[in-house]
Amino acid sequence: MAGRLEGKVAIITGAARGTGEATARAFAREGAKVWIADVLQELGESVAKELGEAARFIHLDVTSEEKWSDAVHQIVERDGRIDVLVNNAALLHLGTLLETRADDFRRLNEVNQIGPFLGIRAVFETMKAQGGGSIVNIASVDGYLPKNGVMAYASTKFALRGLSKVAAVELGQFGIRVNSVCPEAGGVGMVKSVLPEGIDPEAALNSDFNWPILHSQHGRGVEERLDDIAYLVLYLASDESRSCTAADFAIDGGHSGARLMKAAPLP
Ligand SMILES: NC(=O)c1ccc[n+]([C@@H]2O[C@H](COP(=O)([O-])OP(=O)(O)OC[C@H]3O[C@@H](n4cnc5c(N)ncnc54)[C@H](O)[C@@H]3O)[C@@H](O)[C@H]2O)c1
Repeated sequence: MAGRLEGKVAIITGAARGTGEATARAFAREGAKVWIADVLQELGESVAKELGEAARFIHLDVTSEEKWSDAVHQIVERDGRIDVLVNNAALLHLGTLLETRADDFRRLNEVNQIGPFLGIRAVFETMKAQGGGSIVNIASVDGYLPKNGVMAYASTKFALRGLSKVAAVELGQFGIRVNSVCPEAGGVGMVKSVLPEGIDPEAALNSDFNWPILHSQHGRGVEERLDDIAYLVLYLASDESRSCTAADFAIDGGHSGARLMKAAPLP
């Protein structure tokens, strides 16, 4: 049986580790040719090597318009097309309103918002010429239900959802779909990079994430949940989701959808 992405060519930014890596593995399993784009050369190359013929690493700093143009050129030259773009690369900054410096904000904006903006512009002509494509932007639950201490990060994720919707409206006529995925959890690498020393990122992630509705989520590791995100992205990348565009897909065990009140009646 053919894979769900058979014949498709995909580029996933920030795919050297974490959510992007899990997504690259899922795409490769389902028959896609995957371009693992990241600034982490060694890590990215080793993931691509492990995936064999299905994957290639490409060094790409998503904040550079020139690098985007080179990357698209290289992919099209080798594989002839680009069917899927997953804008997954991002940075986290922990800080309250008063602690966040304008430079922190600008740094996050460059990667988390301008990066996807440049990516969509870069693949547009190729996708248009092919008659369509699927763009998946990895936002966050912080992009619509933010918490304290993520001033810059949450702002960029709200912005990314807005960017996705405008792009979806404008590009729908060319068969290009644009959706946002909003996970509650992600890879430990991102959190580790900003936590004070001595705090276990996995424990921090698990204690912060509340899975009150879905008991089945309790006790599952953070890394294990990356596959759940990968399957959602896989669905949006595939033709199975041909009716979906301009939408936000939460992947948070119901956390942002409804509140469990133990004092109220339950079946
Ligand atoms: N970690 C979480 O708790 C969490 C929660 C919700 C949403 N997310 C989102 O999921 C996505 C993936 O994050 P993750 O958890 O796997 O984190 P991660 O830090 O492991 O992965 C992010 C990747 O982006 C790459 N990257 C950073 N700057 C780049 C640049 N300028 N150009 C190219 N690549 C760059 C990094 O090298 C890294 O490989 C992000 O969009 C993130 O905001 C993460």
